[in-house]
Amino acid sequence: MKTTTSVAVGLSLLSVAHGVDLQVQAGYHVIYSYEGTVPPTELSSLIEQGLVGGVLLFSDNVDENLPAAIESWQSTYKNSSVYAGSPLLIMTDQEGGEVKRLPGGPTSSEKVIGEASDPEEAASQAGSQAASALEAYNMNANLAPVLDVFRTPGDFDDQYQRSYSDNATLAGVCGAAFIAAQQSAGYIATAKHFPGLGAAASNENTDEVPVTLNITLNEIRSIDEVPYQSAIAAGLDMVMPSWALYPAFDSQYPSGLSEKWIQQELRARLGFKGVTISDAIEAGALKAFGDDSNRALLASRAGMDIILAAAQNVTQGQAIVKALADALGGGTLDQSSFDAATQRILSLRRKVTPSTR
Ligand SMILES: *[C@@H]1O[C@H](CO)[C@@H](O)[C@H](O)[C@H]1NC(C)=O
Ligand SMILES: *[C@@H]1O[C@H](CO)[C@@H](O)[C@H](O)[C@H]1NC(C)=O
Ligand SMILES: *[C@@H]1O[C@H](CO)[C@@H](O)[C@H](O)[C@H]1NC(C)=O
Ligand SMILES: *[C@@H]1O[C@H](CO)[C@@H](O)[C@H](O)[C@H]1NC(C)=O
Repeated sequence: MKTTTSVAVGLSLLSVAHGVDLQVQAGYHVIYSYEGTVPPTELSSLIEQGLVGGVLLFSDNVDENLPAAIESWQSTYKNSSVYAGSPLLIMTDQEGGEVKRLPGGPTSSEKVIGEASDPEEAASQAGSQAASALEAYNMNANLAPVLDVFRTPGDFDDQYQRSYSDNATLAGVCGAAFIAAQQSAGYIATAKHFPGLGAAASNENTDEVPVTLNITLNEIRSIDEVPYQSAIAAGLDMVMPSWALYPAFDSQYPSGLSEKWIQQELRARLGFKGVTISDAIEAGALKAFGDDSNRALLASRAGMDIILAAAQNVTQGQAIVKALADALGGGTLDQSSFDAATQRILSLRRKVTPSTR
């Protein structure tokens, strides 16, 4: 009964969103962030106005008060007049090994898992450990696992042990096991960084600089995309494209801003039907693409369902919500594609575990 009611509320809200408030619809598509252990008061007020799709948390946000703060955001949202019948997405990077923001597991890095005597079982355990870590903080989504297939010891992914293997098939087996374990516990998983940063050198960091990966489309499809086939077959919830440029397929736009990568390759060729989420929109890799609002528009037009405003200030998220709403109102962002993206986001939110509602 409860589920049916929630679905109906979500749909009716969506159908009136056009006339009532484009900003509320745009709000579903933007994830906010802030600095330090004291959440800014304006975040609650923005949540109450329906302008927040979720929050990304970093290590410096984490202390013993965080679980209660998250519970209070969900409660504020649920009590508001804009509640869509499903929770805010509350996420972090809990990859494992050195790269995790919360106490707890996964204790092993992806590299250690890939080299275990039973990698599939080790990856499955890591997915369960990630779910437990999220649960302890009232979070419902993880920006993991990394499905990049590293090439050379010490390269971009391997230097922090963030790749399961240089064997694409094995990386797929591990990724699918992690995803199945974490998602069956009720926590959203995200495969990144599509189509792959495995060929990136140690200093080719898209957070900092533009990165061009001059590999052939054949190499990308026969190595980097192999784990995505396994992950999609396992029911993967979200995909985060990379901000690298792959001239072999699109010489103009980095994957996350590329209609070719998102629509033709990820959705049409690989058959992904879930939600796409951007990497940090303020990333140095995108310096040629204008300010954060312009980048968010390009990303949305290319098919990026959710935009990550990861600069740890709330005004960044607000500016992006306004830019998306203005573009919808002005007709420079296609309403029917955006509606479809909104529906994908709402369906995903409805399926998260009841304890994180
Ligand atoms: C939401 O409403 C419930 C029930 O009235 C109340 O107990 C709770 O404190 C409210 N939450 C917030 C954050 O205001
Ligand atoms: C790659 O991994 C798969 C799955 O574990 C395995 O069957 C295959 O033999 C491996 N390939 C190589 C070249 O080691
Ligand atoms: C990749 O290709 C671009 C364009 O052809 C070129 O400018 C760049 O130097 C190449 N980078 C590497 C690492 O080969
Ligand atoms: C928030 O972050 C954006 C993106 O990096 C930046 O342009 C803006 O100046 C920041 N605002 C504040 C108040 O720090």
